[in-house]
Amino acid sequence: MLMTEETFSPILTEAMQALMPSAEDVDFYQTHGWWVSKRIFSDEELDTITAAGVQHQNHGSERPLPTPIQKYLDWRPDVGEMFKTNSYIIYQNKTISDIGLKPILGAIAARLAGTDQIRLFSSYFVEKPPAKPNELYTVGYHTDKAYCQTCSSTKMLTAWIPLQDTNTYNGALNMLDGSHLWPDTEEVAQLSKETNYAENDNHFVERAASLGLPIKLLPAEVKKGQVGFHHCQLFHGSDANYSAQPRRALILHLQDGDNYYVRAYDQQGQLIVNNNDLMVPKNNEGNPDYSDSDFCPVIWG
Ligand SMILES: [Fe+2]
Repeated sequence: MLMTEETFSPILTEAMQALMPSAEDVDFYQTHGWWVSKRIFSDEELDTITAAGVQHQNHGSERPLPTPIQKYLDWRPDVGEMFKTNSYIIYQNKTISDIGLKPILGAIAARLAGTDQIRLFSSYFVEKPPAKPNELYTVGYHTDKAYCQTCSSTKMLTAWIPLQDTNTYNGALNMLDGSHLWPDTEEVAQLSKETNYAENDNHFVERAASLGLPIKLLPAEVKKGQVGFHHCQLFHGSDANYSAQPRRALILHLQDGDNYYVRAYDQQGQLIVNNNDLMVPKNNEGNPDYSDSDFCPVIWG
């Protein structure tokens, strides 16, 4: 039979099968909210991403965004030293896109999330500078869901791709293990909407503990080549980079095939506008189309 668009389904090669999470790994992800893969990128691939990301930081976009975003979200040298973030790097840089959107990454994400299709939602090249006495560049505890409240799905997950070995010394993520399963109370709902990413000292863990929530902090050490996956409702943050080198990562926020735009409002009752909403075209209902193949390409399925 001829392969048509309707009958196409991606094939897991033998080499890919060997990298897929086992049933126990999927169980670990569902219970703990995070999981670290085997080595799925080569050093050469990651070094190429680093070079392309640094080139982007210093010389700008190969493919400018259709709508400008805040300067600090697409860092350039004139912004000054800070935790550097270059948003939508996959859209803006073909070299990074060609390497970063590996089918195996999508296949692993699909199996962890229990879905058939994985699309990109947003992407970031990030750089945590070495800590200074008066500036640690830590990342406050947050859920990634807080930053995509206009998404219908609660299966979304993040692929965290370190561009060097990452450990507690140079600012690995700290996971509040199992926090994606914290009880569905008003207090937890409030915590999960806090956008604390840029907060250096928000006493989040103490506040969560005072609510009687189970606190188990675990560092997710991820070797170069491995990928750390975490659930969109898992609370996480990261400490300072005490090494002498920048700690860089490519971060992919991933959506399952069923995800779509929903209206969401902040604490002041204002309609939340995700930056994606400014980038993607509208669908037939007049809402942002989170399945737009340009901004949200299918990685698997
Ligand atoms: Fe995050």
